[in-house]
Amino acid sequence: MQAKASETDVTKIRADVVVFPYFPEEGLGPQAAAADKALDSVFSKMLQSKEASGLFPERKLLPTMGRVAAPRVLFLSLGKRPLLDGYRLRNALQFVGRDVRRYCRSVAVVLDPSVRDALAVPATGQAPQAPARAIAEGIGLGNYHLGELKEAESKAEIEELLVVGLGTGSDLSAALAAGVRLAEATNATRVLQWRPSNRLTPSDFVVVAERLAKSAGLSLKVVERQEMERLGMGALLAVARGSHQPPKMVLLRYKPRSSDRSGRVLALVGKGITFDTGGISLKPNPGMVTMKSDMSGAAAVVQAIGVIARTEPRVEVIAVAPLTENMPGGGATKPGDVVSAMNGKTIEINNTDAEGRLVLADAICYAISQGATHLVDVATLTGAVSIALGHPVTAAMGNSPELLEAVRASSLEAGERIWELPLFPEHDVALTCDIADIRNTSGTPAAGTINGALFIREFVADRPWVHLDIAASSYHAEPLLATLVPKGPTGVMTRTLAHLPFHLD
Ligand code: BES
Ligand code: MN
Ligand code: ZN
Repeated sequence: MQAKASETDVTKIRADVVVFPYFPEEGLGPQAAAADKALDSVFSKMLQSKEASGLFPERKLLPTMGRVAAPRVLFLSLGKRPLLDGYRLRNALQFVGRDVRRYCRSVAVVLDPSVRDALAVPATGQAPQAPARAIAEGIGLGNYHLGELKEAESKAEIEELLVVGLGTGSDLSAALAAGVRLAEATNATRVLQWRPSNRLTPSDFVVVAERLAKSAGLSLKVVERQEMERLGMGALLAVARGSHQPPKMVLLRYKPRSSDRSGRVLALVGKGITFDTGGISLKPNPGMVTMKSDMSGAAAVVQAIGVIARTEPRVEVIAVAPLTENMPGGGATKPGDVVSAMNGKTIEINNTDAEGRLVLADAICYAISQGATHLVDVATLTGAVSIALGHPVTAAMGNSPELLEAVRASSLEAGERIWELPLFPEHDVALTCDIADIRNTSGTPAAGTINGALFIREFVADRPWVHLDIAASSYHAEPLLATLVPKGPTGVMTRTLAHLPFHLD
């Protein structure tokens, strides 16, 4: 998708559809009103008669019968102004993109002054670059589709975005290009999330990383099983034991050209379980099919560093992705087995389905051995997080208020939601173990998400660290929620992580 800014008269815009976002409680702004007037006020009459509810994120698509230059217009309700944040804005625009991508190659979005002002609230940053980027991201996200493996599925995409009402100029063009890039990276994460596990093994994932490294100019190292053994990655190897697929650890590195004298190295560590059966602690049948996306964290860190390579922050960044299947093969780890991680800590694996924290333990130790000074891990770690927060939120935990603040600021820029859960000293006792330094689960359902974080904390060697549990936010299929949030894989945290190095600078 290409995006550009323009200041054309709304009745003269040549695009396959012209979109007018509006706040129903405030009536139409001047530009939307001009389009409505050219159509004999058909849309304002629909609002009056309640044929249009104006509920977020209602879309009313109207043919224009030659009354304006564009063949159709679309009125998009942004709902109640105080409720609009970057997340809702992108979701609303993404619905528009999804609605029209099959038959519209070009989309124009027209912002009236009062709508433009609403997009400039802190959630999206300073006007007009931040709203421009948000719009490019929202429409660009609408280009995501599942067509990869389906002959009949339309692969048509929106190729051109025109943004009217934010002015023009090179800063605006740059913001739009950044938005397009962030949307495309997010969509690339989503494609990987939804690729079946037989088509995305750890080895296949390495090929994806190789391609990305080449196109983005990143250095790549792949740690193979033998080296894992030599390095003492007993936790990752324990998870891989039940599978015929060899485990891999991907390390991508971005080195800034103008060196950042602070010496900080940000590590983005993403859980890469290409399929999670639970291992010997086998998962029940219902829902297991979604475990092909248990590598959503790995996909997010890899796509994020791809963007980072192009935006060139001054901080060095590495992306680390521990990749393996979690299978119940004959060689599989059994509940009660004790292994040692790369830092020498012994772990009793009392539940082989808590495998994410095991692979992350070694990945974090490895990131530290590669110079990481700051750590952010992203993982589809616990089902419990959907009980705690539901799907529209990523849970954040950590040991550093400063780093968490940086992640929070990035998430606001990205239009993604995070919410902190506490790690109190009284939570700590849950992983106490009588046979090893630590056990991988408490054995009770209490504070499941927090316990996952507490386990990982054992391996961060007191570096500033934030853990992001995306088990709920990476995907959803809830019918009621689907009216507000597009269902399916979300590519969550790709954009937040792409912004993060700039918040450490
Ligand atoms: N990959 C799962 C978590 C998950 C659940 C992701 C649902 C997406 C949707 C993870 O490996 C897991 O199995 N976690 C266990 C932890 C438990 C054994 C402490 C869980 O959540 O049940
Ligand atoms: Mn599991
Ligand atoms: Zn898992």
